[in-house]
Amino acid sequence: MARAWSLKARPQGMPKHTDFAMIDLDQSTLGAGEVRIANRWLSVDPYMRGRMNDVKSYVPPFALGEAMQGGAVGEVVESNDDGIKVGDMVLHMAGWRDEAVVPAAQVQKLPALDVPAQAFLGQLGMPGMTGYFGLLQVAEAKAGDTVFVSAAAGAVGSTVVQVAKAKGMTVVGSAGGAEKCAWVKSLGADAVIDYKSDVPVVKALGEAAPKGIDVYFDNVGGEHLDAALAHARMHARFAVCGMIDVYNSGAATQLKYLARLIGNRVQIRGFIVSDYMNRAEEFYKDMGGMLAAGTLKRQETVHEGLETMPDAFLGLFSGGNTGKMLVKV
Ligand SMILES: NC(=O)c1ccc[n+]([C@@H]2O[C@H](COP(=O)([O-])OP(=O)(O)OC[C@H]3O[C@@H](n4cnc5c(N)ncnc54)[C@H](OP(=O)(O)O)[C@@H]3O)[C@@H](O)[C@H]2O)c1
Repeated sequence: MARAWSLKARPQGMPKHTDFAMIDLDQSTLGAGEVRIANRWLSVDPYMRGRMNDVKSYVPPFALGEAMQGGAVGEVVESNDDGIKVGDMVLHMAGWRDEAVVPAAQVQKLPALDVPAQAFLGQLGMPGMTGYFGLLQVAEAKAGDTVFVSAAAGAVGSTVVQVAKAKGMTVVGSAGGAEKCAWVKSLGADAVIDYKSDVPVVKALGEAAPKGIDVYFDNVGGEHLDAALAHARMHARFAVCGMIDVYNSGAATQLKYLARLIGNRVQIRGFIVSDYMNRAEEFYKDMGGMLAAGTLKRQETVHEGLETMPDAFLGLFSGGNTGKMLVKV
């Protein structure tokens, strides 16, 4: 019998372990065109918090009592499809479980890049694509720009730092704690702000980028977004990727410097990575080139065992990860 995590109750504020429950999945029969996958790596991502609320969004809410979904990489152990063979490693969305049975049309063979399979859940997967297209397409960042990126030690943020450096930009990252800041610096960032120190982000950013910023890649919202507005140069572009600061509280963000948008003609654009999925080949080609040139560093924080999924997920909100947060089944 396969096992999966389900949502038992919709969290109020920060999710609790009692909001989750393990369930058995009876998937003994493999239907026509289906494949059975032994999941090896499971992804936890901040957007999953939004799916725990019963609200209309760009992805439907998790149904209570049913297996949750999320990015996963696994090995095909049985196949009723001519295009997918036993032994193939595939990427799919039936995560939060140890074994998945899904239509072959919903799985993707891993691209031929020289990285471990789990990288396709991080730097070479959805978060990496988010950072890549968010920076280059949404914010239209270009060589010579000064880029500020929050949650810079995370999966998306660490990609933004490295792509920006590879494309000739100056980068200021922000992360929580000295150790993470040192890692962001080792990725090539020109300056790093420890937002957990006593110095307000708006002051630290003014010191790190005295001439202001051309691009802000927002993963956090709140104080970071306000600081970026305070230091936005003329015609600055903001790619609003995420606002993890308010995912649990739902609190309204106070923006003291919002009016700077007007005089400085700042452009702010939200986006969802799926807007760029049809450009995946472009991403793999460019990132593949950077990998081959040895200019990309990657780190993962790994929790062991399906039982640890809620711990890994909750860790995203307390800075428990450097690089991509993963669960190894
Ligand atoms: N628009 C899209 O299509 C899309 C796609 C993927 C991800 N996203 C968004 O991108 C952001 C990053 O996602 P990710 O997958 O790369 O996660 P991640 O950055 O790997 O993990 C989350 C990190 O956020 C930081 N954090 C948590 N609470 C914070 C707070 N209150 N203030 C400041 N930092 C906080 C923590 O790092 P510290 O230790 O540094 O605090 C934590 O490690 C999230 O907002 C996510 O929702 C958007």
